[in-house]
Amino acid sequence: MLSATARPYIEASVPVLREHGVAITKHFYASMLGAHPELKNLFNMGNQANGAQQQSLAAAVFAYAANIDQAAALAPVIERIVHKHASVGIKPAHYPIVGRHLLGAIQAILGSAATPELIAAWDEAYWLLAGELIAQEARLYQRTGVEAGEMLALKVTKIVQESDDVLSFYLQTLDGKSPGDFKAGQYVSVAMQVGPLRQLRQYSLSDAQQRPWWRISVKRERATTEYPAGQVSNLLHEKVCVGDVLQVSPAFGDFAPRLEQDAPLVLISGGIGITPMMSVLNTLLLKDALRPVLFIHAAQNSAHHALRADLATAQQKHANLRCVTVYEKPLACDVRGEDYHASGYLNLADILQESDLAGEFYLCGPVPFMQAQWQALLGKGVSASHIHREVFGPELLNYLA
Ligand SMILES: Cc1cc2nc3c(=O)[nH]c(=O)nc-3n(C[C@H](O)[C@H](O)[C@H](O)COP(=O)(O)OP(=O)(O)OC[C@H]3O[C@@H](n4cnc5c(N)ncnc54)[C@H](O)[C@@H]3O)c2cc1C
Ligand code: HEM
Repeated sequence: MLSATARPYIEASVPVLREHGVAITKHFYASMLGAHPELKNLFNMGNQANGAQQQSLAAAVFAYAANIDQAAALAPVIERIVHKHASVGIKPAHYPIVGRHLLGAIQAILGSAATPELIAAWDEAYWLLAGELIAQEARLYQRTGVEAGEMLALKVTKIVQESDDVLSFYLQTLDGKSPGDFKAGQYVSVAMQVGPLRQLRQYSLSDAQQRPWWRISVKRERATTEYPAGQVSNLLHEKVCVGDVLQVSPAFGDFAPRLEQDAPLVLISGGIGITPMMSVLNTLLLKDALRPVLFIHAAQNSAHHALRADLATAQQKHANLRCVTVYEKPLACDVRGEDYHASGYLNLADILQESDLAGEFYLCGPVPFMQAQWQALLGKGVSASHIHREVFGPELLNYLA
């Protein structure tokens, strides 16, 4: 618990953090990665370049200060960070380095406003949060049966083209077995050498947990006129062949739909957000469950609709599965009623039936897509506690602000 001495300083710094949060974390990363270039192997330098990670740490620090007395609000935030940290192998020894540079950055940006009392209060608050993260990360490593940072050497045993931009990679141990247990919805970190750096990216496991392989399905992030091509996804597409061995973390992630319930399961995905949903659907099918499932997917058109073969198999096998596919811009060859059911943007109001509203809702896709569906569900009277989401990037946590 935060001391009575530190509390007023932390409370007073919430508006200051709101104003300077991003500048503080930018300064923090620049000074830390300057002093410890080896940490560039841990951080996602794509997120560093596009600013997402700076916003995320700022958001976490701010959310912590703003919700210091509300353990319930902080618990899911901490859980997500713990799983992400475990997937990249964060160790207790990293925390003093981050703490030193974070406090140094607060001091540098706030200047004379960073009094010794304010810095002491933040030192205390940082270590409260760090202590919680270290303890939970230790428990997670222990439960998973791995050392922090331990990677599995997995052989690529099959590669399947799923759509114009998506390849599935089937991964097995070197002696041809499943790499291990996971919960449908979880992800792994994949390590690739990008020039002088090792870079890690997360990929949701996209097939059932009962299979003798892990499967990841990777969308190639092509260059646009504004942005450079994604580093790791393009390397995976261009350089990785069947027989290659990849360094992959064990499975982590707090997005793991509960499969054993009876309530309808509503899986809503956009684009490559289909991957964790397909893992859930395939896992459920192999459990022989009769639970009603509504699988809603939005894609640009059939050329960008990944994992269609899985969906077709599921439709044949699952008696209680309803699938609705929405294509934003169908191709001339796309057949309405067969390839897709509606065109344009997904409109949940047209799809959801009264019986669906008692369900558990899971969302994954681009952030604006998820925001739109989140609002649509609230508008239909679904309680936020029944809506769960996975973000394919650092969670910006602005819902806590
Ligand atoms: C939990 C989780 C699960 C995920 N599951 C999947 C999955 O199943 N399938 C999947 O395909 N992906 C998934 N992702 C996303 C994946 O981890 C990667 O983010 C994605 O593959 C892009 O990585 P990259 O190395 O190719 O791109 P990066 O090099 O990391 O670039 C990311 C983006 O930043 C932009 N960028 C880079 N440099 C700059 C710059 N200087 N200025 C502005 N913008 C810049 C790039 O153009 C690109 O759009 C998941 C992510 C998370 C967190
Ligand atoms: C109290 C201390 C810390 C806080 C509040 C914090 C917060 C966060 C947050 C919010 C994320 C993003 C999670 C998401 O994906 O949604 C994250 C990711 C990450 N953190 Fe931390 N963190 C802390 C300590 C550390 C330490 C000590 C390290 C080790 C150097 C570290 C390294 C990372 C890395 C490598 C990622 C993944 C980033 C990426 O993929 O770009 N963090 N952290």
